[in-house]
Amino acid sequence: MADTLSVTDNRTGNSFELPIRDGAVNAMDFRQMKTGDDDFGLMVYDPAFKNTASCKSEITLIDGDLGILRHRGYPIEQLAEQSTFLEVAQLLLEGELPTQASHDEFVHEVTHHTFVHENVKKFMEGFRYDANPMSMLISSVAALSSFYPEANQVDDADARRRQIIRLIAKIPTLAAFAYRHSQGLPYVYPRNDLSYAGNFLSMVFSISAKDYRPHPALERAFDVLFILHADHEQNCSASAMRSVGSSQVDPYSALAAAAAALYGPLHGGANRMVLYMLEEIGSKDRIPEFIKRVKSRDALLMGFGHRVYRNYDPRARIIKALADQVFEVTGPNPLLDIAMELERIALEDEFFVERKLYPNVDFYSGLIYQAMKFPIDFYPVLFAIGRTAGWLAQWQEMLCDSEQKIARPRQLYLGRDERPYVPMDQR
Ligand code: ACO
Repeated sequence: MADTLSVTDNRTGNSFELPIRDGAVNAMDFRQMKTGDDDFGLMVYDPAFKNTASCKSEITLIDGDLGILRHRGYPIEQLAEQSTFLEVAQLLLEGELPTQASHDEFVHEVTHHTFVHENVKKFMEGFRYDANPMSMLISSVAALSSFYPEANQVDDADARRRQIIRLIAKIPTLAAFAYRHSQGLPYVYPRNDLSYAGNFLSMVFSISAKDYRPHPALERAFDVLFILHADHEQNCSASAMRSVGSSQVDPYSALAAAAAALYGPLHGGANRMVLYMLEEIGSKDRIPEFIKRVKSRDALLMGFGHRVYRNYDPRARIIKALADQVFEVTGPNPLLDIAMELERIALEDEFFVERKLYPNVDFYSGLIYQAMKFPIDFYPVLFAIGRTAGWLAQWQEMLCDSEQKIARPRQLYLGRDERPYVPMDQR
């Protein structure tokens, strides 16, 4: 059996044999299929990249049919149970689980880069009192680029690593400042004696106590949530990171673009939309009416469906279990009952079964955030903290891949042919 694809161009009768590598044919191989010398050659058309691999990657594997997620070969269930977020970040970035010495150094570096320049604080103070925290995060990450001119040396591995450490270290600080701003509370500086998640919770929740200690169960829950959001291969925001980064702009600017992509309600903004949806439904007896609206295309069941998963998102299963542990500390979230009943009804309904729509990572995460008293608009920011590790791993892999060039899709031009300009008074 040959690993090739035979193609006959019926316009010309010419046949071609295209190599198949790693389960794909190279789109450039179609360019040789022409109707004449002045023909540009055949292109492939794939809006929204539904069946186009834009890169080769060794970071994350998703098997959407089986509901499998692995980072560098390690199943997400094992990482969520046994690892820490900073270890997973290192795994994503470096390809292997770190040794103790290497991990200690990484944690030390991240811990000692959590402060931001005082001018960043002033910059954030300029936002309106009711600014959306995700807008604040996107803008302030972009603003960081102006503080590190060396960040544009994207071909220098050492400079790259310094920006990676800075970004992983400072994102929680920017996120917490955005939260404090929206609450009218003074910003709390990072603390080096706390864990990554613990320091974030301290910057968010501590009022005046310098010895604030997060509840260990909540600290661990947050670390696990960061792990679960750390990477998800070529999703909308990772593609934005790679695409913008391919112009060789600095990683702060590229990451701001990725965070902007995440903000949208069909991506990382879905976690907040789930909460709005559950609040709108309000009680279990109103679920059938809502499902009817979804089926008549009047509403989307937010937190359901995925471009890749056609099975239960493994992260949703872990988060559901995590929610129970969090609710033991915070007290239950009354919306959980509605969410579980909604899931039960949807999973039995032909509309959802036929389309293989299952809960995704966003379906249950918002319930945890709400129980911890985070405002709904802050949920995508929490997503962005964990995902920063993945964006940076994707960015670095793209830069080190000799097959990559500046991202520049083609188009099928279907507009008007050449025509002469008509002056305004003759139109
Ligand atoms: N509610 C109702 N119907 C849905 C939903 C949903 N949540 N998701 C998909 N469908 C339907 C579509 O209308 C379509 O039906 P049709 O074939 O009859 O036209 C079918 O299922 C296939 O869905 P597509 O929209 O083609 O799938 P796509 O891969 O383009 O979209 C997406 C994936 C954006 C996640 C979609 O499922 C959705 O909008 N979900 C709700 C938003 C959400 O939860 N986003 C978070 C995703 S996870 C993340 O980014 C972190």
